[in-house]
Amino acid sequence: MARFSDDFLSELRSRIDIEELVSSYVNLKKKGRISQGLCPFHTEKTPSFTVYNDTQSYYCFGCGAGGECITFIRNIENLDYYDAVQFLAEKVGLKMPIEQEDDGLYVLRKRIYEANREAARFFYNNLVKPDCPAYEYLIKRGIKPNTIKRFGLGYAPDSWDALTRHLRSLGFHDNELISAYLSKKSRTGSTIDVFMNRLMFPIIDLRGNVVAFGGRVLGDEKPKYINTSDTPVFKKGRGIFALNLAKAHGRSLILCEGYMDVIAMHQAGFETAIAGLGTAFTTEQAQLVARYADEVTLAYDSDEAGRNAAKRTLSIFQSCNVKTKVLNLTGGKDPDEIIKRFGKEYMQKIIDGSLSSTEFKLAQAREGINTETADGKVEFLRKAVDVLATVDDAIERDVYTTRLSIETEVSKTAIEEQIKRALGRRKKQQDTESFNKARQLLEGRVSSARNALKIHAQNVSIRARQAEETLIASLLHNPDLYKKLEDKINIDDFSSDIIKRLFIIISERIENQQELDLIFFANELNPDEMAVLTRFLQKSRTVSNTLEECLDCIKVMSEEKLKQSVKDPTELSNEEFMRLFYKKE
Ligand code: CTP
Ligand code: MN
Repeated sequence: MARFSDDFLSELRSRIDIEELVSSYVNLKKKGRISQGLCPFHTEKTPSFTVYNDTQSYYCFGCGAGGECITFIRNIENLDYYDAVQFLAEKVGLKMPIEQEDDGLYVLRKRIYEANREAARFFYNNLVKPDCPAYEYLIKRGIKPNTIKRFGLGYAPDSWDALTRHLRSLGFHDNELISAYLSKKSRTGSTIDVFMNRLMFPIIDLRGNVVAFGGRVLGDEKPKYINTSDTPVFKKGRGIFALNLAKAHGRSLILCEGYMDVIAMHQAGFETAIAGLGTAFTTEQAQLVARYADEVTLAYDSDEAGRNAAKRTLSIFQSCNVKTKVLNLTGGKDPDEIIKRFGKEYMQKIIDGSLSSTEFKLAQAREGINTETADGKVEFLRKAVDVLATVDDAIERDVYTTRLSIETEVSKTAIEEQIKRALGRRKKQQDTESFNKARQLLEGRVSSARNALKIHAQNVSIRARQAEETLIASLLHNPDLYKKLEDKINIDDFSSDIIKRLFIIISERIENQQELDLIFFANELNPDEMAVLTRFLQKSRTVSNTLEECLDCIKVMSEEKLKQSVKDPTELSNEEFMRLFYKKE
């Protein structure tokens, strides 16, 4: 893991205001010296995410996430430590210190970014060469030279190894090119290009790095696309095509299915168009989009596959706190075709009349049913009621119930009765789902370190835990106490390895007379450990931080250590296990 000097970190600290940083992701309300908002790291309805100006830290009382600016960026932008620091440094115009040449993965990632950039340049240069078949193809499809440039489109020549040779000549090694998924081993063992004779779409992340490519055939051959698979700089289910461009044009994004749709949309002036990367839309992608959007309009193909995909994607967005709508693409199969056939004014009309997601689902429920017949009405109503039961807003539900009643000539009360029942069923189902989800989240995503700590903390008496937390909190608040305490503290009296480790790191810094601000711990602590440390820091606000208190804590810790009998967490039932994590709710 990369390390940064205290000087660098303290320069970074002085240029970043945590409140301002968090505000670009979370709607914060000021409350005296703190600010609060809805936690971006778990779903909640009342704000428990708190930002502290004085310590330049944040802490969520709901899920326990916490830390300083680097940890925040690591979590919210899904970046590793180095990238998160770089992200912040760029934001405030701070030059990164000389790089750590000994960090293997870091160096490889950097090389892959460079190789991708050179590859994109190579593809582009090939595309604009005279008589390039891909250029002709694009022009024939109505794409203008300016658009080609804006998206950095390119052409992978019809050759076994043109790119591989070119990148080798720039000093790249075969193993780097293979890691980047630009080259691969042929059956005979030589290194050849992954993309041959294809129109190339670079995928560019929010920091402007070329992270991947999609390559389309120029004719009807199969497969239509070849895409970069996972590499050290890219995960398929993560990126969004053109989000780097779209995010500058407003918070109402239009999500298309294909690269070509996005490009046609931008060219027609709809510059908030974006697309997934071919695979089914993932929760991670939805969360990324949700950070840059208040509203997402789906412009999926009008065929059955497209409508089904739209339905799936809508349900993925449901938990993301963005409004969703669906375009009714009548008259063409996809946005690209509609713009080409009817022009951008027509497209604008479609956008203006875009269906709400409820209307879209009702239209889907109606499809293939003859609602003129009694049987048809019943069948449609059954489905429609299930749709309306997914509408959380009571007023919206009422509007559609009224419409439904008029359309089917069934009394509104009867429909409402059915919706109520469906709501009840749904609530039950949701409760089970959220229980299971929470368990998965805790068992899986919460790292084993945090689990270990929490389980352990439960088995250790509350008294012992409070004592060690108070002790560490006091040291953070008042490091001068350390000298008077160091001989009295028995390191084995701490209840878990994490806390031991935190104590060792803290005491080392105190011994070296280094500052104890959270940011200086970012070099060594992962986000989960940082969250624990932040909790201690919060605690120092409520304890007296005196020598007497600390001595008392040390005594309690050693007493409790003696009594402690640890119950093996694997013996806990699921319910007991869950109870460890939830105090209230
Ligand atoms: N896709 C893919 N692999 C395929 C087919 C499609 O990865 N074999 C992905 C691509 O990201 C593509 C999107 O799915 O952009 C939508 O597919 P499709 O509509 O077939 O492609 P378009 O890009 O829209 O191309 P065109 O308009 O030329 O058909
Ligand atoms: Mn398409």
